[in-house]
Amino acid sequence: MKIDDDVLDAIRNARCDGPALYLSGQLEDRLYQRVNLALSAVGGKWDRWKRAHVFPINAAEAVAGLLAEGEVTTDAERGYFPTPSALVDEILDLADLQTGQEVLEPSAGTGAMAERIADRGAVVDCVELDPGRAEIIRNQDYARRVTVADFLALPVSARYDRVVMNPPFAKQLDIRHVQRALRWVRPNGLLVAVMFAGLAFRNNVLAADFRSQVREARGTITPLPDHWFKGIRTVLTVIPVRPQLYELAGHRTAEAPVSDQRASQDGLF
Ligand SMILES: C[S@@+](CC[C@H](N)C(=O)[O-])C[C@H]1O[C@@H](n2cnc3c(N)ncnc32)[C@H](O)[C@@H]1O
Repeated sequence: MKIDDDVLDAIRNARCDGPALYLSGQLEDRLYQRVNLALSAVGGKWDRWKRAHVFPINAAEAVAGLLAEGEVTTDAERGYFPTPSALVDEILDLADLQTGQEVLEPSAGTGAMAERIADRGAVVDCVELDPGRAEIIRNQDYARRVTVADFLALPVSARYDRVVMNPPFAKQLDIRHVQRALRWVRPNGLLVAVMFAGLAFRNNVLAADFRSQVREARGTITPLPDHWFKGIRTVLTVIPVRPQLYELAGHRTAEAPVSDQRASQDGLF
């Protein structure tokens, strides 16, 4: 996101003291909102007791890059929309998690879903592109493994009873993430994903093929209420991975290659 000059000026004129940044004077509402968006993109959180934005590191260092470059990547641009905790509960109920099951969270963010998966007695492995977010999960010690990687480029190295995910939505990436994630599910396993609602009605090949995949697997795509992601329309996709598909592919165990070949041939698992 390019930052407007008036926002840059407001941040330049702020006073930094350790992790706190104090804006000078009372900013007009809309200017404040744009300033707040820029500061939160680099980790600043408004602290109403201190009446300052507080950063996890020294505030002057936190805003240095933003001031030098005049732009910043917002969480929304990075596709970061943490799953609200009440929705996590619904998702995990649907996933029918059992104690001891192995679960993959392949776009784990700061662990909104992963932590609850572990709370339910399952073993959770996480993949996350953003090293800072992955570090937050690692520091809490509930995940068996935390891998910093682009999930779309990660070779299949294990099979899981469940994959539970809320991947990035931009440019239909959610479909690509879910298709990829299906390769990591064991026969008789289940994938549950929050996805952008567009997949249910878009007419392009990717969306149409994906709907066929879900139908063929006897999965479901269910609209979620708009309020969960600030008005962004989402659906919950549930895809069971039936053993027949593996048998059809001549693949009876958890070895990856045959079903992966099948995936690359017809896009289905
Ligand atoms: C919508 S957020 C969801 C976070 C978490 N799953 C949750 O439910 O709160 C998507 C997350 O996917 C991560 N992400 C984006 N692209 C990725 C990729 N190619 N591989 C792994 N993680 C990715 C983003 O950094 C972000 O943290």
